[in-house]
Amino acid sequence: MIFRQLFDNVSGTYTYLLASRRGGEALIIDPVLEKVDRYLQLIHELDLKLVKAVDTHLHADHITGLGALRDRTHCITVMGEQTKADVVSMRLAEGDRLTVEGVSLDVLYTPGHTDDSYSYVMGDRVFSGDTLLIRGTGRTDFQNGDPRAQYDSIFNKLLKLPEDTLLFPAHDYKGETVSTIGEEKAFNPRLQVKSAEEYAALMNNLNLPNPKMMDVAVPANMKVGLAQGEIARRGWAMNAEDALALVGRPDVAFIDLREDTERAKHGVIPGSVHAPYPNLPADIAPGGKLQELAAGKRLVFYCAFGERSAMAVQAAQHARVESSCHLQGGIDAWKKADGPLLR
Ligand SMILES: [Fe+2]
Repeated sequence: MIFRQLFDNVSGTYTYLLASRRGGEALIIDPVLEKVDRYLQLIHELDLKLVKAVDTHLHADHITGLGALRDRTHCITVMGEQTKADVVSMRLAEGDRLTVEGVSLDVLYTPGHTDDSYSYVMGDRVFSGDTLLIRGTGRTDFQNGDPRAQYDSIFNKLLKLPEDTLLFPAHDYKGETVSTIGEEKAFNPRLQVKSAEEYAALMNNLNLPNPKMMDVAVPANMKVGLAQGEIARRGWAMNAEDALALVGRPDVAFIDLREDTERAKHGVIPGSVHAPYPNLPADIAPGGKLQELAAGKRLVFYCAFGERSAMAVQAAQHARVESSCHLQGGIDAWKKADGPLLR
């Protein structure tokens, strides 16, 4: 198991790099834009392939590295389904699993610090974002924060984990690196309350100044999506209504880039070929299954929201699959257009 805790001393952010082995797939949690070169160097040194970049929530104190990592590694960007960030190519919800090769994290929805805050549990450890910090908790006074929701997330979800679960938060400002659920239960001053009301009163009286970066970071973090307009201008995008007319045509192949869990949860466009996004480089290379398919058919890539498919169509065009295009807005747009789905 490869596990690295990386620190950005400007924002006090912890970033976590996880992989099951050298040479294998990796995921990164809460990357900071200014540190992207450092992450990529480490990923290269450990011979890893970055497959997913995850933010626990929309950050107000630093600009996310998600967009830069996507641009430089073509990784999948992940956040919770409530998020307002446009960068996200895969959205998770409570009960889902976040996986790369040999690594699986359980997804917990833990709102309160923000309404898009998630925690991720992997065996003996939990990545708690800014929901639960070491001897503290994330502030609840902006970004749709809610102290009662946070009380529920902490007391009814995080503190229900085994006491020896290691706690790895998204921030620390005092130099602490790790704690346990049991330690926080006993010694975290914010958790020594008898009710949600008492906790809310405590949180509502903190009177904290806004983060220095907030006015820059929040709007920036909401707009790190791919330049979808440029892809459309090149004629590589198709809206859901136009794509609907192509279902069942023998000269068209819908290519589903999503994972099995997403397919099972949301359904599949009838007649699609499953080609998971992480395998795309091999599938689109000469001799790959998509190259062969493209000899007789027009490829229409799709995913959940159109972000992975936008990257796929760029790769396909680069590989000279010139008739390929992608479904703008993904399955989300397809559903809104009442497109048929198989389960
Ligand atoms: Fe935060």
